[in-house]
Amino acid sequence: MTHHKRTTRAPSNPESPESVAAIEPVHTDQDNHLWLEFWRDQRTDFHQSAVNPLLSRFWPGLGLAHGSRVFIPLCGKSLDMLWLAQQGHEVFGVELSPVAVEDFFRENKLHPVRTQMGAFTLWNDGKLSILCGDYFALTRSDIGHFDTVYDRAALTALPENIRGLYVAQLKRLVSDTAMVFLLTIEDAAENATMNQAHGVDEEIRTLYTEGFEIDLAYVESVFEPDPESAGLPAKRAEYKVYRLSSR
Ligand SMILES: C[S@@+](CC[C@H](N)C(=O)[O-])C[C@H]1O[C@@H](n2cnc3c(N)ncnc32)[C@H](O)[C@@H]1O
Repeated sequence: MTHHKRTTRAPSNPESPESVAAIEPVHTDQDNHLWLEFWRDQRTDFHQSAVNPLLSRFWPGLGLAHGSRVFIPLCGKSLDMLWLAQQGHEVFGVELSPVAVEDFFRENKLHPVRTQMGAFTLWNDGKLSILCGDYFALTRSDIGHFDTVYDRAALTALPENIRGLYVAQLKRLVSDTAMVFLLTIEDAAENATMNQAHGVDEEIRTLYTEGFEIDLAYVESVFEPDPESAGLPAKRAEYKVYRLSSR
């Protein structure tokens, strides 16, 4: 029995359920209009109002060089970017919604310079850069060299049928020796054993095993209400920190 990752994605289009999409051509932009609407309407429950505590606790253990560049796919307006810049990193996010990018720089009282780069707009202030556009349209020359990736609610924001394409694109974009620091929230299946609940999630294994060594660095069990089934008793969720090193 696998666990279900707490998804942070937009709801599917009811006319194209994922089981059908599996045998139809895959459109990586199938949810793009929903994300743009979410940001326009400020329906951004996934946004965290503070720096992620697992990031600040486990990132220093990576021992990365001061000034090294960190790539953050599907970055939203995450405050984690500010924290990473404060640690001395050059932060480079990619985000579809111009509303999110503008909010990020305005809310943090930054003064970005905007540069058009083909279909993308680059926003930059000091160590913080966000390229506004579609992650799946990026090439390595758009972003430059990266050895480190931070993923919080990026993979899990996407419909399951395009998560494999997300990982394949990541492999194309970053260096052959890159490391991915991945945070997930996984709902433990009711009949899962402790070993299953506290192990590497099956979907994570399937998606990453070909390209990466998977190290599950930390698991924290938390009983909390399931946001997708209001009114039901609290369920156990596993907060996990994965370190994925390129093979
Ligand atoms: C669940 S949110 C997470 C944001 C951020 N990682 C955080 O921790 O707050 C997912 C974000 O991905 C963006 N997004 C979705 N599809 C995208 C794509 N194809 N290219 C770039 N950004 C995308 C959405 O607009 C949204 O801001």
